[in-house]
Amino acid sequence: MKILVVGTGAREHVICQVVSQNAELYSYMSNQNPGIAKLAEKFYIGNEMELEEVKKQAISWGVDLAIIGPESPLGEGIVDLLLEEGIACVGPTQAAARIETDKAFMRKLFIDHGIDGSVTYGVFDDVEEAGHFIDDFGKELVVKPVGLTGGKGVKIVGEHLKDDEDAKKYVKEIINNKISGYASVVLEERLVGEEYTIQALVDGNRVIPMPAAQDHPHAYEGDQGPITGGMGSYSDTNGLLPFLDEKAYQDSVKIMEDTIKAVRKEVGPYKGILYGQFMLCRDGPRLVEYNARFGDPEAMNVLPLLKTSFVELCQQVVDGNLKKASFEPKATVCKYLVPNGYPESGRANSIIRVDEEKINEAGAGVYYAAVNQKNNQIFTSSSRALALVAAGESISEAEEICEKATSFVDGDLYHRRDVGTTALIQKRIKHMEDLLGT
Ligand code: GLY
Repeated sequence: MKILVVGTGAREHVICQVVSQNAELYSYMSNQNPGIAKLAEKFYIGNEMELEEVKKQAISWGVDLAIIGPESPLGEGIVDLLLEEGIACVGPTQAAARIETDKAFMRKLFIDHGIDGSVTYGVFDDVEEAGHFIDDFGKELVVKPVGLTGGKGVKIVGEHLKDDEDAKKYVKEIINNKISGYASVVLEERLVGEEYTIQALVDGNRVIPMPAAQDHPHAYEGDQGPITGGMGSYSDTNGLLPFLDEKAYQDSVKIMEDTIKAVRKEVGPYKGILYGQFMLCRDGPRLVEYNARFGDPEAMNVLPLLKTSFVELCQQVVDGNLKKASFEPKATVCKYLVPNGYPESGRANSIIRVDEEKINEAGAGVYYAAVNQKNNQIFTSSSRALALVAAGESISEAEEICEKATSFVDGDLYHRRDVGTTALIQKRIKHMEDLLGT
C-alpha cells in the first residue's frame, strides 16, 4: 500500500515512522526533514498550502491513501480535492474541519446539540456590541479570533491583555483587520484548572481514544515565559494522568463522541484524527478547543506506543469500520529542543549535531521538527528544532532517559528540563487538589 503523509514537522515524522512500518511511505514536505527523508520511498519539497501541487504529486506517485498532518491544508479543503481524485484520506473535509477552523461553529455546536463541557461565550462581528458584552460579562475573559492563527491569536485578559480596555482594542483589531480570515471574534470565560489532551481516531461514527497527555506551552521552566507551540509533554502507564482519573477521562471522551455525532448531523461524517484540548475544572472537564489533527508534541506520546498497526487503523478510518487500538502500558516523556531566542526570535540557520546512535542507546527516539537538511548538515529555522521521546515503566523513568538523551544533541538550543519531573507533576496534582478543596 502507498501512503502519502503531508507535513514537515516532528508530528509528521512520528506519523511517517508508524506508517513506514507497514506501508510504502511518500512524503510531501515544505523543507527537508532528515527523519522523514530517511523513511520515505520518495519525497517532494513544496508548499503544503499549494493544494493542486499536493494533488499532482499524490496522483503521480499513485498513492492509495493520504494522511494530512497540519491543520492549514485541511482548512483549505485538501481532503475534498483528494477525495475527488479517488484518494482516500485520514483527515476531515473542509466542512468537518470547521471544528478547528471556525471557533464560532464549534461553540454553537455544543449549544445546539446540548453537548456537556461548554463555556459561557458570545460571538461578535460588531466592535461596539462586543464592547458592551465585555462591560457586562462579569467573569474572567478570553479573546479568540474565530479562525486559525497558528496558536498566536488567543489572549487572556490579565495575562496577555492588561484589562478590559486592552481587550476591546484587541477585539477591534481582530474585526477590522480580519485577523484569522474572519471579521469576527469569540469572547468566552476563562477556564481555571489543569489542561490535558485526548487524541482519537474517528471513522465518521466511532471515536477510538488514545492515552491522555499533557503539553507544556510556556517557553521556560516553572511554566514561565511566552506561549510556544509546546515545549514537551508526558503520558502515564494507564492512559490517564496523575491529576486525571478514569471518570474525567471517560467524560471527556463522551464529549468528543457527542461532538462527532453533531458534526455528522450538521455537515457530514468526520474521518480522521480529533484532538480534544480540555481543562479539568472544579465541575469536571470542559472543552478548550478542538484540533482536526494530531497534537504536536502529543502525537509523539501516543504513536510510538501503538501495538495495533497504524496503517490498519487508517484503513479502518477510511472504511468506516474502526475497531480497537491497543497501546503499550508505558509512560512517555517528550522534550522539545528549540533555538535560543525561541519563540520571539529563534536563531535560524545554525548547525546542530545529533548523535542518533547514542540517543537510541540511551533508550530514546529523535523526531525532527522545523529543521532543514542541506549537504548532510542539519540547520535550525526560527521554530522548534527536534523532539526527544522516551518511554518507561513510570513517568520519572521516562523523564530520566529523555533528559539524558538531550546531552547527545549539540547546538545553539535550549529545552525545559522540568517537563515530566516529579516536582512539576506534584505541582499539577496540588493545583487540582486546591481547586477541588480535597
Ligand atoms: N500541543 C498543541 C497543538 O498541537 O496544537
